[in-house]
Amino acid sequence: MQKVPLIELPEFVRNVTAMLAMDRHNTKAVVLGLRGELGAGKTTFVQQLARQMGVREVVQSPTYVLMKKYALPDGLNPMGQKRRFKNLVHIDAYRLENPKEFAALKPAEFLDDPSNLVVVEWPERLGSALPKADLNLSFSADGAGEQERYIEVI
Ligand SMILES: Nc1ncnc2c1ncn2[C@@H]1O[C@H](COP(=O)(O)OP(=O)(O)O)[C@@H](O)[C@H]1O
Ligand SMILES: [Mg+2]
Repeated sequence: MQKVPLIELPEFVRNVTAMLAMDRHNTKAVVLGLRGELGAGKTTFVQQLARQMGVREVVQSPTYVLMKKYALPDGLNPMGQKRRFKNLVHIDAYRLENPKEFAALKPAEFLDDPSNLVVVEWPERLGSALPKADLNLSFSADGAGEQERYIEVI
């Protein structure tokens, strides 16, 4: 478990992105699960991740739409490496009431594409509809100051 002050979040996100980009032999999308209570910092993490990947749109929590997909620009990232992913898919399953709502998104279409990075808030609510995540992060505000969060790679 690591204490991450908000100002150090960009560096933390860069480290996680580097871990995710390492697996180049995956045949399906790379899945990142973000766990933790409301307000723990999951959406803020995705916003920082999107910015680093070159997304210029404002990334809002897809709580009501369940999923948002962002096309990532090609070319080199700020570290001068070729971009590993073509799309960032952001899912927030917080309000999911019925697994059929997720099935309606035709998840196989984006989960089968190895050039997608799929980031899921509340992955536990999707149950077996979501393949096992390649990496999970657990966020917590418990015992942390207002400007910091605990984040654990699990
Ligand atoms: N690493 C962090 N350090 C300090 N505050 C944070 C951090 N991450 C998020 N926050 C703050 O916590 C609040 C809620 O975060 P949010 O990302 O919406 O949570 P969640 O998506 O888990 O419900 C925001 O006001 C945000 O600025
Ligand atoms: Mg959120």
